[in-house]
Amino acid sequence: MDKTMYAIEVEKLTKIYGKGETAVTAIADATLQVKPGELVALLGPSGSGKTTLLTSIGLINEPTHGKVVIDGAMVADEGWLPGLDLKRLRREKLGFIFQAHNLIPFLTALENVMIALEINNLSRFEARERATILLSSLNLGHRLDSYPKALSGGEAQRVAIARALANKPKVILADEPTAALDTENGKNVMALLKSLAVENQSAVLVVTHDHRMVEGFDRIFHVSDGRLVD
Ligand SMILES: Nc1ncnc2c1ncn2[C@@H]1O[C@H](COP(=O)(O)OP(=O)(O)O)[C@@H](O)[C@H]1O
Ligand SMILES: [Mg+2]
Repeated sequence: MDKTMYAIEVEKLTKIYGKGETAVTAIADATLQVKPGELVALLGPSGSGKTTLLTSIGLINEPTHGKVVIDGAMVADEGWLPGLDLKRLRREKLGFIFQAHNLIPFLTALENVMIALEINNLSRFEARERATILLSSLNLGHRLDSYPKALSGGEAQRVAIARALANKPKVILADEPTAALDTENGKNVMALLKSLAVENQSAVLVVTHDHRMVEGFDRIFHVSDGRLVD
């Protein structure tokens, strides 16, 4: 396959925290590729290195060794490439969904999504319109003016997903997005990620240690003690 067809390419990624005697190798020699439209799981026990791998791909945790290519652009080769605007790349290419939804408590559901669009230079008017459509499509049309504390866990996670997807990122990275949800809401969130992968042709990489959620993935990688097994 043509290399440029991948949305995420990781080659021999190693992340070592610290130096000398206290150094911890959290991920060793990880290699994986994800195509646009593909939904891929990283499955493994706590402490196996899943978050480290996800954040290294997500431009927030500098890899110690190896290469990372996002949407055809090399971003890391033995550390970040010099001169990269990491913030801008994150904003333009990536959508992040965290376990704790990280909504801004003093903004409404609508404003939490609008802010992601305004950061990418949409006008307030356009941001309001797009955020409203997106939240409505996630069955949150009746919750636009609700504050995070008034939302259920499933609703808050859907707002966070709307925010991560607002800019139609090429790459969506989700760290245990269903961990705080009951089975039904967890399944809804997974179904949503699946349909978005297909509709937007985004590459979606989901970290989970929840075996209930493994249906529907195109591929599953197991992470064990910092090693990746297809
Ligand atoms: N900032 C850090 N500094 C030092 N060690 C860390 C740091 N973050 C994670 N680790 C260690 O790296 C290993 C993998 O952690 P992590 O990537 O969070 O695993 P997971 O997400 O699978 O639970 C663990 O041994 C953890 O203690
Ligand atoms: Mg983790």
